[in-house]
Amino acid sequence: MAEPLPFAVLISGRGSNMLALAEAAADGRIAGRLVIVISDRADAAGLDAARRLGIAAEVVAPVAGQDRAAFGRALTNFIEASGARLVVLAGFMRILDGEFVRHWQGRLLNIHPSLLPAWRGLHTHRRVLAAGDRWHGCTVHFVTEELDAGPAVIQGRLEVLPGDDEVSLSARVQRFEHIIYPRAVGWFAAGRLTCEDGMASLDGQPLSQAIVEEAQ
Ligand code: GRF
Repeated sequence: MAEPLPFAVLISGRGSNMLALAEAAADGRIAGRLVIVISDRADAAGLDAARRLGIAAEVVAPVAGQDRAAFGRALTNFIEASGARLVVLAGFMRILDGEFVRHWQGRLLNIHPSLLPAWRGLHTHRRVLAAGDRWHGCTVHFVTEELDAGPAVIQGRLEVLPGDDEVSLSARVQRFEHIIYPRAVGWFAAGRLTCEDGMASLDGQPLSQAIVEEAQ
């Protein structure tokens, strides 16, 4: 059997997606090993949560005077040193520079709390509610230099319910994130998911659209 794929998870906060990924790697749904959790914030709760599971967890934050490109290079060096061959962004609240993105192109995944291309950027739940959208969800996508615009892999789609507020809606979306993100990383680790020339493919079939899962 092939070696489990070493992967890194980058966080800035709670790290619930990171924990879902760690659990999926531990129980074999992902043929991979979470080798390092990196946060740009020392107070990210996910750091201690990772350490409690025996996973290496480190802070890599920009130092005074360091521009985005230099920070990106420092981050790449750090990730390379861990041996990770896939970088998974899970609530990492910092825009990564072009050099970083190009270095990890095809090996850099993100999860975004909307049905991309709808609602790129922040405060997606609030904006969905304000717009009166019927559908909402989350998207796993490969990262490209354009923010929240890389090739989509899988979406979790759910219906906005009457009476939903930001709290209830974000909780349902997050539960879905914890299902679809391990699935996508599992596909990648198994060699089933690739991204070349800006096109994601699953089992050799180009994904001209994301795979859509509906809430049960
Ligand atoms: C998730 O909702 C994800 O969609 C967004 O940031 C949040 C991270 O949450 N990119 P957590 O830290 O994984 O709990």
